[in-house]
Amino acid sequence: VTQVRACGIADVPDGAMKPVEIGSHALLIARIGGKCFAVSDVCTHARARLSDGYLNESECTVECSLHNAVFSLETGEALEFPAEEPLSTYPVTVVGDDILVELPDE
Ligand code: FES
Repeated sequence: VTQVRACGIADVPDGAMKPVEIGSHALLIARIGGKCFAVSDVCTHARARLSDGYLNESECTVECSLHNAVFSLETGEALEFPAEEPLSTYPVTVVGDDILVELPDE
């Protein structure tokens, strides 16, 4: 596991999300209520980018813009069809002004 900087905390205002590419990983960084989440940005249904979708702050989920699958940002679980496979999730640490994520070694 390698911890890398995904972006600055100021790049992801509360209630927003942002796509970040790190090596071969396409990540979605989201911030809700001051808490940061990192999940795969690629919908497990048909590979649409979840960063083009909709963040639901009260449910802590992201909805795919293409066919409206819904995923938990906390667990990656696919909550609504047509997606069935979960998203990968990545541990996040905020250090100073930086959002760091733990990625599996390539
Ligand atoms: S690509 Fe995301 S729901 Fe189909």
